[in-house]
Amino acid sequence: MEKIQEDNRPPLEYVKGIPIIKYFAEALGPLQSFQARPDDLLISTYPKSGTTWVSEIVDMIYQKGDVEKCRRAPIFIRVPFLEFKGPGIPSGMEVLQVTPVPRIIKTHLPLALLPQTLLDQKVKTIYVARNAKDVAVSYYHFYRMAKVHPDPGTWDSFLEKFMAGEVSYGSWYHHVQEWEKLSHTHPILYLFYEDMKENPKREIQKILEFLGRSLPEETVDHIVHQTSFKEMKKNSMSNYITVPTDLMDQSISAFMRKGIAGDWKNTFTVAQNERFDADYAVQMAGCSLQFRMEL
Ligand code: A3P
Repeated sequence: MEKIQEDNRPPLEYVKGIPIIKYFAEALGPLQSFQARPDDLLISTYPKSGTTWVSEIVDMIYQKGDVEKCRRAPIFIRVPFLEFKGPGIPSGMEVLQVTPVPRIIKTHLPLALLPQTLLDQKVKTIYVARNAKDVAVSYYHFYRMAKVHPDPGTWDSFLEKFMAGEVSYGSWYHHVQEWEKLSHTHPILYLFYEDMKENPKREIQKILEFLGRSLPEETVDHIVHQTSFKEMKKNSMSNYITVPTDLMDQSISAFMRKGIAGDWKNTFTVAQNERFDADYAVQMAGCSLQFRMEL
């Protein structure tokens, strides 16, 4: 089995101008044969925006709040990761072939790389966006522990790469904006991580309405509890602990790291924050999206 050595983290590859993890770039060719179904549900996010959280919520909704059913497999099997490919682990395409319908599918792909079949089939999509500063910090720690990424270098140099869109999946600024634009013409529920932190029950109710489903209020309360950061952190079926350490080394940084809004304040220097804000104003000019940097 191919292993990733600490000193052999593969560099990102550019596909249609977008940098992406080498293994995932290799998966994009075979993805051309992927066939979406109208009853699929897509969960789309820029990395580190609450993908795992909303995936667990949706699986719990599909399983009507049955915790045991949600413990049937790790989250990346219950919610296959479309473009995933990695040494010694089944690819997203392989997992999807044995996933019962209706399927919940995760992707981080920007629209330039998204299989057209998902748009043609008008697949319902839940998009979760998180403020850029918390994403940058979370992504930095994720790069450190998930060795399919290149070495992140120092925090300062990583932040520069993040602003320049030279991290896996490219520009956060572009991703959140293009998916928001798409939400005007396609069945997309656009959610914010900070809103989920503020009032998870309200956001779960939005998801239920979007899916055309209803659940008793006590089941919704149960889902709120089971999908809290504290519960998911100790749940081996949602905290990625089953992934081999040569792929994700949680002794470097836990996958369920902090799970809060505004953690960036513990990492950004005053100078970094000023530089980031000035660049943000340019990159988000003319965009109506309003992100809360803290609660
Ligand atoms: P931090 O690194 O800031 O802690 P993704 O699933 O898109 O990779 O996002 C991971 C981020 O979401 C991590 O952020 C993780 O801790 C956070 N997260 C995961 N589950 C969560 C939950 N139930 N509540 C709040 N945050 C959660």
